Amino acid sequence: MKNSHEKVEKNVGLFMIFTFLAVSIGGLVEITPLFFQKELTTPVDNLKPYTALQMEGRDIYIREGCNNCHSQMIRPFRAETERYGHYSVAGEHVWEHPFLWGSKRTGPDLARVGGRYSDDWHIAHLTDPRSVVPESNMPSYSWLNTDTLDGEMTSKKLETFNWLASNRSHKDENGNAIPLYTQAEIDGAKAAVEGKTEMSALIAYLQSLGHALK
Ligand code: HEC
Repeated sequence: MKNSHEKVEKNVGLFMIFTFLAVSIGGLVEITPLFFQKELTTPVDNLKPYTALQMEGRDIYIREGCNNCHSQMIRPFRAETERYGHYSVAGEHVWEHPFLWGSKRTGPDLARVGGRYSDDWHIAHLTDPRSVVPESNMPSYSWLNTDTLDGEMTSKKLETFNWLASNRSHKDENGNAIPLYTQAEIDGAKAAVEGKTEMSALIAYLQSLGHALK
């Protein structure tokens, strides 16, 4: 008589069902606790929502694929914390949609790049990286100096982030959703960015990175 294990191994359908069950249980055991750990869903004390200009800068960062070469995730290893600063914590990222942690470092991690360089350095670097770092292989993004924002979508973006926050775990003690943006900020979003260069938006975003954790 065949033993039952052999039966499972020789029956593709049965094997698939048991594999699916095993993976599901393993996944649930790993994922479920994350929803209930408060420190993973509560913003750190100094976390501020992106301003309208920073939000546009973030979208340029995504559009230009900066996250393909730059991570925003400092791991808790000495070699990383000595170079980049305190390791990244979940509470710094709770309002990120999508996360820009990245998975590859052709260039340095940018999680705490805010304030490390002056705005002028960033302009020079993004316009022509070789002008400030001769051995750099980062592409040049000179058009950001002349392309300007029209702000048509900016208030929609802030509204969307409000909606995402209210659907996630951003609630006060009484369970009420905490809006990230006031109606006045949403209404003023277009005026806050209209006519500004993409360069200024991207730099506003870069300079905002990494200050929330004190
Ligand atoms: C092809 C890979 C690549 C892409 C794409 C890329 N970078 Fe870089 N980046 C690098 C490399 C390599 C360095 C290190 C050399 C240097 O400073 O130029 C760097 C350095 C930097 C630095 C300095 C960081 C530090 O701590 O010294 C900043 C800021 C930066 N990049 C921002 C950006 C932004 C913003 C974008 C998107 C517009 C971008 N990078 C796109 C490769 C890349």
